[in-house]
Order: sequence, then structure tokens, then C-alpha cells
Amino acid sequence: MLAVRAQNLTYQYPDGTTALNGVQLEIREGEKVAVIGPNGSGKSTLLTLFNGVRKGEGTLQIFGHKVNKKNIRMIKKMVGLVFQNPDDQLFCPTIFEDVSFGPLNLGFDEAEIREKVKAALDDVGLNGYETRSSFHLSFGERKLASIATVLAMDPDLIAMDEPTSNLDLAHRRRIIQWIQQNPNTIVLTSHDLDMILETCQRIILLNRGRIVADDTADTILRDQSLLEANDLELPVRFQI
Ligand SMILES: Nc1ncnc2c1ncn2[C@@H]1O[C@H](COP(=O)(O)OP(=O)(O)OP(=O)(O)O)[C@@H](O)[C@H]1O
Ligand SMILES: [Mg+2]
Repeated sequence: MLAVRAQNLTYQYPDGTTALNGVQLEIREGEKVAVIGPNGSGKSTLLTLFNGVRKGEGTLQIFGHKVNKKNIRMIKKMVGLVFQNPDDQLFCPTIFEDVSFGPLNLGFDEAEIREKVKAALDDVGLNGYETRSSFHLSFGERKLASIATVLAMDPDLIAMDEPTSNLDLAHRRRIIQWIQQNPNTIVLTSHDLDMILETCQRIILLNRGRIVADDTADTILRDQSLLEANDLELPVRFQI
């Protein structure tokens, strides 16, 4: 079963910027894949197409269903997207309301919602934050809360845009462990190549909206000339 199948996927922003150009990819159910590339290469744009926030040209199928207007409710249920900027994700007066928003929409009852919110906040290390307002949290805390909003829905495909950005080492470690033990399909973007080595078997390297490499994480992250040609560096653990 393919979790993602993109054929000739192209996306142009309204101002004419081409962010993705003829992307061809297949991601199998249960795979953990990192999308890497320099700033502005199209990583975030790609993830937003997965749950229908944006609609590209070409074909995109999620678990065999085309991403289109007709299927959008089903797609949003199947794909949870952690936005790069947590402020795009958090909009309620309290963290409890933000994290319960997804399960509430999925039709769970009150007791189940409480349980899901508690589990999601525990997973990211934010227990006790239920009554806090996202407006009064640090960036790292907001990032963790935005991850919790997605975990609470337990989607089949989890798309995480820079999940460890701005996190302290303990919270980064917690997110790494969560990704490692989660059985669902996970596609993440990151500039944290050492985190990717610990979590993803496969890497898709984007540059200027095109896939320039698609291989095992180990192969790509040891290829110094490929990384440098794409404004990236060897992960710390491979540097001598
Ligand atoms: N709202 C927008 N309108 C016009 N162009 C945009 C918009 N958002 C992004 N872009 C452009 O689309 C391209 C891809 O951007 P995207 O945010 O997907 O890159 P990215 O790989 O996620 O970068 P980063 O590593 O900085 O997060 C860039 O050239 C960017 O300038
Ligand atoms: Mg981005």
C-alpha cells in the first residue's frame, strides 16, 4: 500500500513563484522519510500539499485517494500536518482547546477527548499546560503544543515540518524517541541531519522544487559532495 504517490506534482504560488516542479515520488505505508534541501527548496510546500492545504498541478494520491475537493475531509482525517510555524497551528485560548480541536472534530466523546489530550501532551512533555495560552508560551513550547495537536488525532500519515526546530536537547530527544516508536507513516522535513539519521531510513533531497536525490539516509548523508552542492553539510557524527 502506498501512503503517498505524486506524479508530476508542480506548485506555483499566486505571485508566480514555482515552489515544486515535476515532483515524482512514492512513499510506502509505514516508511519514515525525511525531505531535506536548502532554504526555499520547496519542503514546506510539499508537506502542505499532502493534506490539501494547497492544491498542486499533476496527481497526488494519499493511501490511494486523490487529493481533491471531493475527498478533502477524508484526506484531512488521514494526514496530520505539523506546520513549520506553530502560530499557523494554534488559535484557541488554551492549549487544551487547541489539542482537543482535532479529536472533537473526529467525533470523540468528552472522556475520550480528555484521554487523547493528556496522552498527546505527555508524549511531547507538556503535561500541566492544559490551561496555558499559546500566546504566552516560548517558541519551543508552541512547537511542542503544535505537535501535540496532530498526535491527538493519531493520523495515518504524519507530516512534520521541522519537528525539532528550537527544541532543547531533552525535548528534541523525546520527539526523536516518539518518531522512532511510532508505527505510522511519517514524512518530516528538517535541517537537523543528525536527528534524521536516528529517525528516517530514507531521504528525499529537494533543490529549487525538484528532487535531486532519493536514497537511503545513510547513502545521502555520507555523500559530502552531494550535500555541499545543495548547501548542506555532513551530519556532525560523520564529520572528522
Ligand atoms: N506564500 C508564498 N508566496 C510566494 N512564494 C512563496 C510563498 N511561500 C513560499 N514561497 C516560495 O516558494 C519556495 C519554496 O518555499 P518553501 O517554504 O516550501 O521552502 P522550504 O524548503 O520549506 O524552506 P525552509 O528551509 O526555509 O523552510 C521559495 O522560493 C519561497 O520563496
Ligand atoms: Mg520550510
